Amino acid sequence: MDTFTPPKNVSKICCIGAGYVGGPTMAVIADNCPDLKVTIVDVNKERIDAWNSKNLKNLPVFEPGLENIIERTRGKNLFFSSNVHYEIQIADIIFLCVNTPTKSNGLGAGKASDLKWIEICAREISTYAKGNTIVVEKSTVPVKTAEVLKNILNTKSNDKFFSVLSNPEFLAEGSAINDLQNPDRVLIGGEDQNSIKILSQIYSKWVDKNKIITTNVWSSELSKLSANAFLAQRISSINSISAICEKTGADIKEVSKSIGTDKRIGEKFLRSGPGFGGSCFQKDLLNLIYLCDFYNLPEVSQYWEGVIQINNWQKQRISRLVVEKLFGTLNGKKIAILGFAFKANTNDTRESPSIFICNDLLEEGANLHIHDPQVQETQIIQEFKDHSFNNPNKEGYGSWEFSKDIDKVIKDANAAIIVTEWDEYSSINWQEKEKIMSKPSWLFDTRLVSNSKSLEKTNITYWRLGNKINEDKNY
Ligand code: UDX
Ligand code: ADP
Repeated sequence: MDTFTPPKNVSKICCIGAGYVGGPTMAVIADNCPDLKVTIVDVNKERIDAWNSKNLKNLPVFEPGLENIIERTRGKNLFFSSNVHYEIQIADIIFLCVNTPTKSNGLGAGKASDLKWIEICAREISTYAKGNTIVVEKSTVPVKTAEVLKNILNTKSNDKFFSVLSNPEFLAEGSAINDLQNPDRVLIGGEDQNSIKILSQIYSKWVDKNKIITTNVWSSELSKLSANAFLAQRISSINSISAICEKTGADIKEVSKSIGTDKRIGEKFLRSGPGFGGSCFQKDLLNLIYLCDFYNLPEVSQYWEGVIQINNWQKQRISRLVVEKLFGTLNGKKIAILGFAFKANTNDTRESPSIFICNDLLEEGANLHIHDPQVQETQIIQEFKDHSFNNPNKEGYGSWEFSKDIDKVIKDANAAIIVTEWDEYSSINWQEKEKIMSKPSWLFDTRLVSNSKSLEKTNITYWRLGNKINEDKNY
């Protein structure tokens, strides 16, 4: 590290990975730093073509506000390319925004992150980069990844030098552009103070200097895991309370509001739902648990394990309730699934509660009709495949189809389940829908977005998460 002299005039940024993190993050950097040339590269050519597509509706990532930024910057100082090696070669700063899923086999399977893609990138950078390059890890990675990176990068020749910084991403999908434009903080961890200064200067083009926190590498990496673990823990906490509400007659929304007014607790992240999904929370919790096990801290490990257990239980208890309320069997029954994305305002389906709820219902023989305004059918096929779900050859396994038409999905359904909090579901007129549903009709609202006034005027029996069930309907 002593030998590292940062590039004199930083003008070219390369981002490896054109996904949910790389795409929006680089778009916002390019938008705020017109003097920088930002190029996002990816081995997935189809994805690069989609980012370059003329029709902005075909961008591979759906994020409110993203299209406008792409329109302003693409072809000016933001570029998408498949020429990975060339862009690495000419870059002053390289951001790593590649995928780091949980390992499915080998040592640490089911807990540790698979650093295969990070490692491949490190090898490519060490081969193709020239001169002095700052490498920034942005993907969610386990603690000590920067060390792995440094070891690989510094093995090649003595005419190229690297400085590794950790600059974790805190954006939440669905609000990514706003989160990037107005972050609570920007965290930069590293050893080389000059490199830290260069990266800070880029962010300071639009972020208040007081919000740029610099730390050592390990603090930065651990802060990212801890932040996500704390957020996930809040969701499991409120979800555990939702079950008590259903037994006692308390209303989870009222409880959330009441406890959230305590400034020490705060009002955010207290929405009870079908359990957290997304690519980060479970992965980061598992990383933390792996770290605890590695350092022989079983009590700490079990503590965080509990957050995942409650999350799995929440998903399961919803599917069990649906089966129970529909007279113990779903065989041949049509069920409308409203929402497949893991949250509203994104087309991302990774770890979506919908995947697991759908599979449980399919296992019971249900005939699912799935709707989502942004998700494509191919993603659902892929998710079921990735989880080894949807086994039509298994005896009693149900069937599913997908439609973008809410009416078609709800028509003749015995029950509808709201799994994602899309706006279009809160404005559903249930008096209208009742006419086309099969009787007796059920609505299960796991996101508390349905219009209860409209529902009260119907004969639909409805269950709202964290509320006592309303079963006094007369048919
Ligand atoms: C999360 C972190 O928020 C972000 O800082 C990090 O960079 C990546 O991981 P993301 O997964 O995109 O972001 O979305 P988030 O809004 O955190 O939601 C995660 C899951 O929790 C979703 O399934 C969401 O529906 C659920 N959730 C969130 C709740 O159930 N209740 C809440 O109150 C908030
Ligand atoms: P995230 O949510 O972290 O952005 P994504 O899966 O959406 O994750 O995006 C990661 C992207 O990184 C994918 O498009 C993948 O093709 C790309 N990628 C992974 N490894 C490499 C690599 N060695 N070179 C270039 N791109 C890569």
